Amino acid sequence: MIYARKFFNVFVLALMLNLVVLNLYKSQINFEYTRTLISFNKFNPRPTIFCIILTNPKNFLNKTLVVNNTWAQECDEHKFITVIPEYFLNISQSLDEDTSFIRKDKPLEVSYPFNLFQPSNHTIESYHSLTSKMYKAYLDIYKIYPNYDWYLKADDDTYIFMDNLRDFLNEKKSSDRVTYGFNLKKFQSGGAGYVLSKKTLSLFGENMLKNGSFCRNTGSEDTDLASCLEKLNVTKGRTEDNLGRERFHPYDIKDNFEGKFYDWLYEQSINPIKSGANSSSSSSISFHYMSPEQILRTHTAWKAYQKLKQHNKNVDFHKLVLNKQL
Ligand SMILES: *[C@@H]1O[C@H](CO)[C@@H](O)[C@H](O)[C@H]1NC(C)=O
Ligand SMILES: *[C@@H]1O[C@H](CO)[C@@H](O)[C@H](O)[C@H]1NC(C)=O
Ligand SMILES: *[C@@H]1O[C@H](CO)[C@@H](O)[C@H](O)[C@H]1NC(C)=O
Ligand SMILES: *[C@@H]1O[C@H](CO)[C@@H](O)[C@H](O)[C@H]1NC(C)=O
Ligand SMILES: *[C@@H]1O[C@H](CO)[C@@H](O)[C@H](O)[C@H]1NC(C)=O
Ligand SMILES: *[C@@H]1O[C@H](CO)[C@@H](O)[C@H](O)[C@H]1NC(C)=O
Ligand SMILES: *[C@@H]1O[C@H](CO)[C@@H](O)[C@H](O)[C@H]1NC(C)=O
Repeated sequence: MIYARKFFNVFVLALMLNLVVLNLYKSQINFEYTRTLISFNKFNPRPTIFCIILTNPKNFLNKTLVVNNTWAQECDEHKFITVIPEYFLNISQSLDEDTSFIRKDKPLEVSYPFNLFQPSNHTIESYHSLTSKMYKAYLDIYKIYPNYDWYLKADDDTYIFMDNLRDFLNEKKSSDRVTYGFNLKKFQSGGAGYVLSKKTLSLFGENMLKNGSFCRNTGSEDTDLASCLEKLNVTKGRTEDNLGRERFHPYDIKDNFEGKFYDWLYEQSINPIKSGANSSSSSSISFHYMSPEQILRTHTAWKAYQKLKQHNKNVDFHKLVLNKQL
């Protein structure tokens, strides 16, 4: 009761502040202020996001390191899905001691040097077993961490604008049978990253626990998952903005802005592909095929952009991110 009254007071105060701001600066009111006000009214608690990032030991020194130290930090929880090298599995042991007694039929986790997660029975990394790796990861994470609102799947060469992802999900329901990503006619691009709602992950988990071959496994992770989710009546949510610009991108940030796309994309994309400044939303969420250097550059530019905006400086993010001096 006391808690509820306190909360109500805070709410009223916040509302009043917003109204004062609204009245004082009516002429300068922008879209973002109005949105803040709306989300206050809806009492939406901030959605929690669990990030599932596929990597492997070959990438630890470059891709994994850079993702770990940039956008992954902004997830509520994140795990790098990989085979864990033995010397990280039990760091307290000397290197020449036998670690073969460690059971691999259970998920293994360490927090050094990164939050690494080895799904049960995932003992070798191979491009052809991507579907199994991902299915095993989803199943284990469903069992161990079932209480997040959204599950983001990304690769170690994906950059995620976590703030934009949160804003986007703030207005969506995690109890819907839905996934959000870059929508191709038959599936959603795996590399561009996508989010599964809590409901979607639990449907996947329940059905795969009952029948391990419920979802098909041809080795092609994104098309396999699509065919599985279709059986579960999960739909691909719309992710373009109100100007028809994409938020999730299967190519890197530079190619997007310069409109360098491959023919297959024009054929397979659900929304017509646009080039130039219209190729990507100003509230974009992901870019794929990002080198570690591009990820660092983009992250730095994004942080600088947010600071400048706080001080009402008008900057063009597209220009900022392409600035070679950054
Ligand atoms: C990352 O480092 C590994 C060796 O540690 C190397 O084989 C690989 O090419 C590097 N990748 C990139 C993108 O630099
Ligand atoms: C790690 O090594 C210690 C010392 O040898 C051992 O007691 C412990 O059981 C090992 N832990 C795991 C998870 O293998
Ligand atoms: C792991 O593999 C073993 C041996 O093939 C099997 O008995 C076990 O059920 C598997 N466990 C999981 C969780 O997949
Ligand atoms: C990875 O990120 C964590 C924080 O999430 C940090 O504590 C850790 O030092 C980072 N690992 C490396 C190798 O930089
Ligand atoms: C498991 O699911 C697959 C694919 O839907 C189906 O062919 C198979 O009969 C199911 N197995 C059992 C035991 O229900
Ligand atoms: C999906 O929807 C169809 C038609 O509404 C229904 O028959 C089927 O049982 C649903 N499947 C699942 C897994 O909910
Ligand atoms: C972007 O789209 C808008 C609305 O469709 C259009 O008015 C504008 O000319 C486009 N800009 C570019 C650079 O193509």
